[in-house]
Amino acid sequence: MALNNKRGHMAYLQPSLVLLLTLSLSTIAVDRGNFKTCDQSGFCKRQRATEPNKSPYVAVLSSINIQPTQLSVQLLNKNTNVRLNLQVIAIKGNIARLRVTETNPLKPRYEIPVGDVLVDEPVQQGLEVLSKDSKSVTVGFLDNKIAIQSDPFRIDFIVRGEPVLSVNSRGLMNFEHIREKAQPPEKAGEEEEKKEEPKEGDGEEQEEVLDDDDDDDDDDDNNDDKNNDAEGEEPGMWEETFKTHKDTKPLGPESIGLDFSFPGFEHVYGIPEHADTLALKSTTSTDPYRLYNLDVFEYELDNPMALYGAVPYMIAHNEKRTVGLFWLNAAEMWVDITSVTADKNVLSKMVDFVAGGDEMPQIDTHWFAESGIIDVFVLLGPSANEVFKQYASLTGTTALPPLFSLAYHQSRWNYNDQDDVRNVDAGFDANNIPYDVIWLDIEHTDGKRYFTWDTGRFPESAEMIKNISSKGRKMVTIIDPHIKRDSNYKIHQEAEAKGYYVKNKDGNDYDGWCWPGSSSWLDYTNPEIRDYWVEKMSLEEYQGSTLDLYTWNDMNEPSVFNGPEITMHKDALHFNNWEHRDVHNIYGMYQQMATALGQVKRSQGKLRPFVLSRAFFAGTQRWGAVWTGDNTGEWGHLKASNPMLLSLNLAGITFSGADVGGFFKNPDTELLTRWYQAAAYQPFFRAHAHIDTPRREPWLKPAEHLDAIREAIKARYVLLPYWYTLFYLSETSGAPVMRPMWVEFPGDKSVFSIEDQYMVGSGLLVRPVTEQGAVGVTVYFPGTDQVYYDADTYKAFPGGQNTYIPVTLNKIPVFYRGGNIIARKERVRRSSILGRLDPYTLVIALNKQGRASGDLYIDDYQSFSYKNGEFIHRKFTFENNKLTNSNADSSGSFETASWLERVRIVGLNRRPSKIQITSSSGTTELEFKYDNNNDMLTIRKPSINIAQDFTITLQ
Ligand code: GLC
Repeated sequence: MALNNKRGHMAYLQPSLVLLLTLSLSTIAVDRGNFKTCDQSGFCKRQRATEPNKSPYVAVLSSINIQPTQLSVQLLNKNTNVRLNLQVIAIKGNIARLRVTETNPLKPRYEIPVGDVLVDEPVQQGLEVLSKDSKSVTVGFLDNKIAIQSDPFRIDFIVRGEPVLSVNSRGLMNFEHIREKAQPPEKAGEEEEKKEEPKEGDGEEQEEVLDDDDDDDDDDDNNDDKNNDAEGEEPGMWEETFKTHKDTKPLGPESIGLDFSFPGFEHVYGIPEHADTLALKSTTSTDPYRLYNLDVFEYELDNPMALYGAVPYMIAHNEKRTVGLFWLNAAEMWVDITSVTADKNVLSKMVDFVAGGDEMPQIDTHWFAESGIIDVFVLLGPSANEVFKQYASLTGTTALPPLFSLAYHQSRWNYNDQDDVRNVDAGFDANNIPYDVIWLDIEHTDGKRYFTWDTGRFPESAEMIKNISSKGRKMVTIIDPHIKRDSNYKIHQEAEAKGYYVKNKDGNDYDGWCWPGSSSWLDYTNPEIRDYWVEKMSLEEYQGSTLDLYTWNDMNEPSVFNGPEITMHKDALHFNNWEHRDVHNIYGMYQQMATALGQVKRSQGKLRPFVLSRAFFAGTQRWGAVWTGDNTGEWGHLKASNPMLLSLNLAGITFSGADVGGFFKNPDTELLTRWYQAAAYQPFFRAHAHIDTPRREPWLKPAEHLDAIREAIKARYVLLPYWYTLFYLSETSGAPVMRPMWVEFPGDKSVFSIEDQYMVGSGLLVRPVTEQGAVGVTVYFPGTDQVYYDADTYKAFPGGQNTYIPVTLNKIPVFYRGGNIIARKERVRRSSILGRLDPYTLVIALNKQGRASGDLYIDDYQSFSYKNGEFIHRKFTFENNKLTNSNADSSGSFETASWLERVRIVGLNRRPSKIQITSSSGTTELEFKYDNNNDMLTIRKPSINIAQDFTITLQ
């Protein structure tokens, strides 16, 4: 059956893909020929060729309009005489926004509706003019100065006398204004008149800014010529062909490019998704990093090619500060990065900045988007946590997921029928392995018609789900965005009749090939169509589903097997006639949004949703989780999962994971085991595999490996209270759960490029084993003032050094960082929810001062009731030999039967004589055990409710 299905889908693939699929289990290599290089993309090539230091843009200072919270000024392109509007807006929370649009656009440009990515219209704040003359104007807000230089146009951001960001300082700004297509020579004369007639007032302003420009006569003389755009026109501007695909580009060139330099910085991060390093690399000898949601079959590591999702958001960090740059634009984008030495002379002219040494590092970046507007948010930090908050204030935080979704997920393409599901489910119980969710891939449907079941194999789906959920477990089914063009399929009938499909350039329903064969795509960019989708998620509409069935949105880049670069034609048309080119990178997120809203609605707003999406964009964090797509069961891919997930976490998408074991190929048992161990400490933890791979459920592996895998999964369950608390804190603060080392140790330069170890919250340092045959790993413990404790042995390691940690097959190098209190639940159940009332163990990892603190968050783990105050947030503090449990948030109230079963204090170098607990019910003495060898104290059975105030005193 599987084979038939596979043949079935292979028939729809391009020949090159078919070949690769056939080879997929032996040879893994992306077919680069399916994807454009920068040279093959007209706008990328044009923008990248922009010559530095010849900026034609001048800020027309006479046009400046200063309002209490923003200023606007015209930018004139001296070569074309086209004018742009620049707005500089101060936003609450230490953010600046730069918008550049055309002053007199021939056609409007696409802007993402407020509410869809920006949670709201950002709240502005006061800004004042600090100085203004004929050459520049400087405005200020909070600690920031924004200096706008007129000619050539550039902007510098200066914080407390130090430059942190320069815009167009390399003069690479290139705003291709929307124009009429130049007519063949005989017609050109007539057309010229109509175009670009000088607007009122143009002459005056021009004279003023061009005052000392020797070339201005020349410029005026040439205006008409340049305005007709025939000159400077390049092949590919009005249409472009890639392989057999023609992009008709009805609007012609409309790309926008701009350079941003970060003086004083050597490291930039973010702009996922790429299978590349955490600290972004220089692109001088490669293509730029590409942001264009693509289904890249068998993607390769270490390159800047585009992948399934895009977040146009970069973070720069040095010892002193963190700065974020977010360009709100859903079109294809490319970003060049170069590491240089800053020209201090230029900088010191700009600012009153003096710093030691002659050399200052700088990262130059150059961004270009195919369409849309320049709408850039500068997040001025100054700390990483403030940058996270700033980005979250714009695009939202990761919604607190239901607990089950943070536990372990079991998936493969495919679990074949109800018996298969029953057996796999039973396999976990028989082998004492907890798991929470079992997944069904495309084969569960009736011929890839989503929302249906292959009733031969899944005759009683609701019953099957009930069997699973009776153990507190859940099920997920896949629902892709392509709709089979089958006149007997209800969704197709409705979508066709209501005109809900994306249209091709001629206005007919766009069709292409995907899993079901001939398909069309719902236009999720249209709010009405999202509402329709929301209804489809209801239990009445989705027959055979229950409230315990959740969703996986795959192929939503969208993947179109016979489309250009395996995706949709850019000249396809969406809601309000926007071209696919304008909305490409946000399309998939709209599907996930509608799916999540549908799940919420089907429970009358009570239950939190869970939706996994492959495509993503800025703001995806509000709607669910993502994973890194079709990786490969090779050591390199295991290793790459960490930097890839860290980049996603920095870009706000904290709920992310990679297929455990690798999707393609058959990982050997050691690799599979190490993968489980690594993923147990990554935010989204799911095993998944290609239909052609041999089965790899843990119990099919030799006992030694099965044991190690079981221990890894259990380690995840034991720490679920910590994970859940971190996700809660992330929802309130925007801080990622999985953090690059530098986020926790911002002043330690030696961690800025580290990507093989990371922090989970502030309390756990994780260095997963990602090397074959490893007998040890080197862990860097930052901070001479810090101390760390092995999570298994409690052995202490001093900070400020590299330490070799020997490993056996079942060792996961994980360390408590001194200063943290971490809540655990040490009795492992079959699923996470079954342990909801289980008792806690607190691990108190003392810092060098003998202090520690930590949080614990509890609610019903699944509903939105916490939003109405039904939660518990406790704060644990240990100091002066006293552990205090107090309420961290008095706005919450909720009851739990969970009690405190054990306290382990590590790093305590004396045996107390007596230990007492004091609470509203009085003071009693507690039993304890002290382990000299490990400086560890275990307090037994404090037996008090975890939500009750108490102090435990060591004497
Ligand atoms: C895509 C997904 C993969 C899934 C397959 C079949 O390749 O990335 O996870 O198993 O489609 O639906």
